[in-house]
Amino acid sequence: MSRFIEFSGGDVEAYLQAQERKDMLRFITCGSVDDGKSTLIGRLLYESKMLFEDQLSALEADSKKLGTQGGNLDFALLVDGLAAEREQGITIDVAYRAFTTARRKFIVADTPGHEQYTRNMATGASTAELAIILIDARKGVLTQTRRHTYICTLLGIRKLVVCVNKMDLVNYSRETFEKIEADYRAFAKSVGAGDITVIPASALVGDNIIDRSARMPWYQGPTLMAHLETVPVGEDLRDLPFRMPVQWVSRPNQNFRGFAGTIASGMVRPGDALKVLPSGRQSTVTRIVTADGDLTAGIPDQAVTITLADEIDVSRGDVLCAAGEPVEVSDQFEVQVLWMGDQEMLPGRPYIIKAGSKTITGTLDKLKYKVNVNTMEHVAASTLTLNEIAVCALELDASIAFAPYEQNRALGSFIIIDRFTNATVGMGLIHFALRRAANIHWQATDVNKDSRGRLLKQKPAVLWFTGLSGAGKSTIANLVEKKLHADGHLTYLLDGDNVRHGLNRDLGFTDADRVENIRRVSEVARLMADAGLIVLVSFISPFRAERLMARERIGDGEFVEVFVDTSLAEAEKRDVKGLYAKARRGELKNFTGISSPYEAPENPEVRIDTARASAADAAGEIVTYLKRTGRL
Ligand code: ADX
Repeated sequence: MSRFIEFSGGDVEAYLQAQERKDMLRFITCGSVDDGKSTLIGRLLYESKMLFEDQLSALEADSKKLGTQGGNLDFALLVDGLAAEREQGITIDVAYRAFTTARRKFIVADTPGHEQYTRNMATGASTAELAIILIDARKGVLTQTRRHTYICTLLGIRKLVVCVNKMDLVNYSRETFEKIEADYRAFAKSVGAGDITVIPASALVGDNIIDRSARMPWYQGPTLMAHLETVPVGEDLRDLPFRMPVQWVSRPNQNFRGFAGTIASGMVRPGDALKVLPSGRQSTVTRIVTADGDLTAGIPDQAVTITLADEIDVSRGDVLCAAGEPVEVSDQFEVQVLWMGDQEMLPGRPYIIKAGSKTITGTLDKLKYKVNVNTMEHVAASTLTLNEIAVCALELDASIAFAPYEQNRALGSFIIIDRFTNATVGMGLIHFALRRAANIHWQATDVNKDSRGRLLKQKPAVLWFTGLSGAGKSTIANLVEKKLHADGHLTYLLDGDNVRHGLNRDLGFTDADRVENIRRVSEVARLMADAGLIVLVSFISPFRAERLMARERIGDGEFVEVFVDTSLAEAEKRDVKGLYAKARRGELKNFTGISSPYEAPENPEVRIDTARASAADAAGEIVTYLKRTGRL
């Protein structure tokens, strides 16, 4: 009774539509032909009576002629036949087949199982709610089983059905089945896989596919079809907050302005307060328009046009969401990428990123690691090749509204398109935003760097000291600062050891941390120079790329690179802090010059040879340089 009341009134329509939707299960089959995948799909199609008369008679004829089943129907022939047909045309990445039983509609994505088809599999998995993972009972859990499970889990499939097939070939052995199940569950747990149902079956004989097998009385679980027909689907999306990416703005006449799109999650009703992101503007829903008339409520996956009470700016690519639970906005993310391009992915190269209905330029960067899809190992990488999966950063030219993939598959995924060939070269999932700077614009101020510099009677500059630990950077920088200070200049010395006590105390000495260390300090130096100061930066800053980044950020005219050039032998001989000795003993990892590289500057503004010049001479040389070049 209470359920009836709950859905009475305005929500009846939505409830009915939800019921309708609930009756559709999208799934993917993972496995190779050898595992009996074609036979399995063929049997599901056959048993659900979805084969057309002509296909059936062709199957009967082919089975007699070519079949491997002694005149019985050979389902593999059917599916393989369809596959061959489809492959004659222009490559279709994934074959989708629809079939219906009395209880539910199904769409199955059938993709090849081999590693070179990872991209096809991922395409199929990205829209599936459930995956059938096929295991040959004779072979048990294989590398490909692990790969398929990993990719399905990665792409957000929370329902896995493991079909331990060919049980007839292992004498329906309970022991064999239980061993495989235990192996599989142990692995699945390690990759965080979701709900798992393991079914012993024989697609060929028909055991536990549609009908319960009398040969495995010890198995108490559902048959494959029973499970597919009853597993709850499509419910989660409705319970989530409302989100809809705007596909286009519909304005047929002066009196109507609506925002069309497909509801990604949640429900929406007239009167609901919505927020438009990235702009953050807010309004109230007036109508939910469809081709079949207005709705009292919109549900996930429905294509609707929403009208709002206020004339606010909304454009294609914006996201409408529940005002109380808006999505996030950012231009930088940690993402997981599957590379599908024949040419390798180059960090820093601009690609077209299509996220929801938004198309924007962006670069992939900072490859954290790539994943060996067979062993799940994390492997260091600098580029990505076809079918490789990696975690990296995505930087966009402008902010977008998004949700982490884990929360919303539609708003948390994107595809990567080559700017020149227009080919899809990758797909990605957003883990989280890396920087939460939203809706920010550069503000011009009336009091600026020039006016501050005039007040201080100096030209702002950044003196960037680089060199090995113990080269004498800090000593020399300190002397230079003293001279400048004595001459009445306002200065500030940023020293690596000191900054690492505060702002950068979370950073260590891996390459990645050093990159971040330098990125931050170059931003601080830039701000201080903007404040009119003469800034001295004394960091090892071992990588050319980051020193170049600092130079570009600060501006060529104000950036003065001072290379404090000391040989490793000399620095090690001095070893003021005893760190070289520690590093040699192996007690200090990634030590510059010993277990981490130092890339000497090629064209520094000033090079100090500490073998010849004392610290005082060096400081004098630098000040002379600054005067000679008109900086002081
Ligand atoms: S940088 O490479 O990221 O630029 P930074 O200048 O901030 O380094 O810090 C270098 C200082 O940290 C060194 O002078 C030394 O005192 C200390 N240090 C501790 N561990 C290391 C290490 N593994 N490599 C280099 N310096 C280290």
